[in-house]
Amino acid sequence: MTKKTKIVIIILLIMLFFIGFIPIWAFFIEPNLLISRKIEIKDPALKGIRVAYLSDLHICQDGKDYALNMVKKVNEQKPDIILLGGDYIVVQIYKNKSMKADEIIKILAGLKAKHGVFMIFGNHESRPKTTKLIIQSIKDTNIKLLQNANTKLQIADKSVYLVGIGDYSNNSHNINKAFNGVDSTPVIVFTHSPDIFPYIPDYVNMTFAGHTHGGQVYIPFYGPLEKPTHLLGKYIKGLYAEGSKKMFVSSGIGNSHYKIRLFNIPEIIIADFK
Ligand SMILES: [Fe+2]
Repeated sequence: MTKKTKIVIIILLIMLFFIGFIPIWAFFIEPNLLISRKIEIKDPALKGIRVAYLSDLHICQDGKDYALNMVKKVNEQKPDIILLGGDYIVVQIYKNKSMKADEIIKILAGLKAKHGVFMIFGNHESRPKTTKLIIQSIKDTNIKLLQNANTKLQIADKSVYLVGIGDYSNNSHNINKAFNGVDSTPVIVFTHSPDIFPYIPDYVNMTFAGHTHGGQVYIPFYGPLEKPTHLLGKYIKGLYAEGSKKMFVSSGIGNSHYKIRLFNIPEIIIADFK
């Protein structure tokens, strides 16, 4: 065997090792990770404000410890506001079941932010039975529902409107209702599906969305493995800017259908305005 052949064989063996390792990583390692992803957004009108955005939690029956760790990680970041972007339960997941919505709320009640914890519903909370249970369960917590509604917050020296918009993917959005009474800027919007972005008013400073899971399996230089799927439209993950508007799409925390993730490490978004 020549030296050249030996090198080729070694390279092939290394490649085979990594190819074989990918499914193990995607099925058993990556979905169990959780990072706090820090992003900086330039906007003098919101300067100094820290927002935590969490979406697509999809908490399963065996996910209590993971969810408690998530709450701990968010609180450690000391955000001014925490925005919960929907999909707390999971309607369909292979060989597992969703945690009940009231049990999920008990865990999320541990979230702490100086200026409040706010939530909207995702497409997995489209059944009236689920939304009713969540509305009932948050009554004894510090979580406020902003489903097609808004509130004015005083954060440091700034008056900020926070607008929650219902999910566009299941037609639960009502932009007029959500913005009713909003008469000044800056404005922060949080929602579930990012496909609503073109309909967000131009004067909105920042929008946070989720829903896509980043495709769950994302191949570098190619994109999501299955495209398009029911999840994916124009916006997949990361920061988007159109005209004066900006939107950050999180690839979220949990999974639907299958517990699998590749190049989409579960993430808590910590956004610092500079
Ligand atoms: Fe989701």
